[in-house]
Amino acid sequence: MYKTKAYSAASATSPLASTAIPRRDPTEQDVQIEILFCGICHSDLHAVRNEWSSVMPTIYPIVPGHEIVGRVTKVGGAVRKYKPGDLAAVGCLVDSDGTCPQCKEGLEQFCPHLTLTFNSADKHLGGVTYGGYSNSIVVDERFVLRVPANLKLAGAAPLLCAGITTYSPMRHWGVRKGRKVGVVGLGGLGHMAVKFAHAFGAHVVVFTTSPAKKEDALRLGADEVVISRNTDEMKKHAGSFDFILDAVSADHDINAYLSLLGRDGNLTLVGAPAKPLGVSAFGLIMGRRSLSGSNIGGIAETQEMLDFCGAHDITADVEVIPIQKVNEAYERLLKADVKYRFSIDMASLKSE
Ligand SMILES: NC(=O)c1ccc[n+]([C@@H]2O[C@H](COP(=O)([O-])OP(=O)(O)OC[C@H]3O[C@@H](n4cnc5c(N)ncnc54)[C@H](OP(=O)(O)O)[C@@H]3O)[C@@H](O)[C@H]2O)c1
Ligand SMILES: [Zn+2]
Ligand SMILES: [Zn+2]
Repeated sequence: MYKTKAYSAASATSPLASTAIPRRDPTEQDVQIEILFCGICHSDLHAVRNEWSSVMPTIYPIVPGHEIVGRVTKVGGAVRKYKPGDLAAVGCLVDSDGTCPQCKEGLEQFCPHLTLTFNSADKHLGGVTYGGYSNSIVVDERFVLRVPANLKLAGAAPLLCAGITTYSPMRHWGVRKGRKVGVVGLGGLGHMAVKFAHAFGAHVVVFTTSPAKKEDALRLGADEVVISRNTDEMKKHAGSFDFILDAVSADHDINAYLSLLGRDGNLTLVGAPAKPLGVSAFGLIMGRRSLSGSNIGGIAETQEMLDFCGAHDITADVEVIPIQKVNEAYERLLKADVKYRFSIDMASLKSE
C-alpha cells in the first residue's frame, strides 16, 4: 500500500479539500497510472452531496472522479497490454465479476457485482473505492483503456463518462443519417451527444434552457436549436423525432419531450435527477412511444468510442482548471454555467 494526494469531501455539506488516500501496490494484473487530467461529471456532484441517497448512498469521505487520463507508471507481471510510459484511461468502472451474462456480453455496466471507480466496496483494501481527483490510481488491466495518440488529453478525459454515456445509447437506438435526433440539456453529456449525433449523420436539434448557448450549439454540430422554455418553438417539433436523448441533471418536465416523438420514437434518459420524474401515460400510449434509460457503456464499447473519437478527432470542449477551483466549479455546474466540461489539471494537486 502507498499514499497519494487527493481531494475528498467529509460530508454532504463539506467542500472538497486536500487529503492523502491509500492505493494498493499493483498486483500481477494491475496497472498503476499517474493521473494527468480528470473531468468533472455532474454525477460527482450528485454523489458528493449525497443526492442519490435512496439508490446509492454516499460513504464518506468520498474522492470523486471517473473521467481519468494519465500515464502508466508501473505494471504487474501478468499485464500484457500496457507498459510504463503509455497513455491510459479509466472511466466509471474498475472491476466486475467477469462471469455473469452481462459481463459475457461486454455489458459490464450492468453487472450485479460491478465496482465503480468511486463509492463502491473496495475488494482489495476494504472501505470504498476512491476516484480520479488524485495523483495516482491502480486498476485491473481489464478496465484500463487506450487513448488515441492524436487526442488532446484534457479534452479526452471527459470521453470516459460523458463520451461513452452518450455514444452508447445512440448506437443502441440506431442514430444515423436520415434520423431526427434531439438532445436535451447542453452540458457535459449534452455537448458530447451533439458531436456524436452530428458525426453519425443525423439531423440534430438541441433543446436548451440557456439562450446564450445557441451559437455554441450550432458550432458543436446542431442543425437547429430550440429554447425549451418557449412553448411555441417547442410545438413546431411536435410528433417529429425518432430519438431524443435527455441529459438534464435537475427536475424537469419530460412530457414536453415525449410529445415531440414520432410514432415508435424513443426518449432515453441518461440524466439522473435526484427526484422521480412524472410521466404522462398518454404521452407514451399515443404513437407507441417508448421511454428508456442508459448507463455509461461496457469496456469494449468504451474502447470503440475512444477509437471513433481518435479517427474523427473528437474531444470534449473543456475549461481546464486547477484542483483548487473544484468547489467553485461545482457551483457553476449547478447554474448550467460550464463550456462544456471542467477538466482538472492534476499537476495542480502536486503542489498541495
Ligand atoms: N446515465 C449515465 O450513465 C450517466 C453518466 C453520467 C452522468 N449522468 C447524469 O447525467 C446528468 C447530466 O450530467 P452532466 O455532467 O452533463 O451535467 P451538466 O454538465 O451539469 O449538464 C446538465 C445540463 O442540464 C440542463 N439543466 C440543468 N438544470 C436544468 C433545469 N432545472 N431544467 C432544465 N434543464 C436543466 C443544462 O443545460 P441547458 O443550459 O442547455 O439547459 C445543463 O447544462 C446528471 O444528472 C448526471 O448525473 C448519467
Ligand atoms: Zn460521469
Ligand atoms: Zn458480471
